[in-house]
Amino acid sequence: MRKIVLAAVLLAAFPAAAPVAAQDSAGGVVRVEKPVTGEQVYGQVCQACHMADAKGATGAGTIPALANNPRLAGAAYPIMVVTGGKGAMPGFSGMLSNAQMAEAITYVRTHFGNNYAKPVTEADVAKLAKPPPAASH
Ligand code: HEC
Repeated sequence: MRKIVLAAVLLAAFPAAAPVAAQDSAGGVVRVEKPVTGEQVYGQVCQACHMADAKGATGAGTIPALANNPRLAGAAYPIMVVTGGKGAMPGFSGMLSNAQMAEAITYVRTHFGNNYAKPVTEADVAKLAKPPPAASH
């Protein structure tokens, strides 16, 4: 079951991440909109597991709720989980940009009953990110 979810997520995430580089080269080619805001990144990537209401799920595996989650109070923990992965959650370094991860983390820290207003910046992510696995480069 877990593998199926992961495959679906990777399929959802890669086309979203790919145009990031392509879009910067001129040419006016219209491509799939890349997720920019935290809400878009959440909707395209995180929601597949954490659910639209961020309450997580239980089934073949347990997906923790991000809603009303005191573990999001500090920025370091979610940055490390999102960049480097944890347990059944894949790390997104190399797949999403630091800016996209910063936006997504800021989004979950300020929505779903969480009120941790200080935005997580791209620089915060760069500082704390675990590098992508060597095999991916
Ligand atoms: C493939 C499914 C999957 C996707 C996609 C996913 N997560 Fe997770 N996430 C998990 C699982 C499973 C855990 C629990 C990991 C553990 O503790 O072993 C988790 C844990 C977390 C935690 C820590 C929660 C806690 O209480 O410890 C945060 C924060 C988090 N995810 C944020 C995100 C964000 C933001 C995204 C989108 C960029 C995302 N996740 C995408 C499955 C996923």
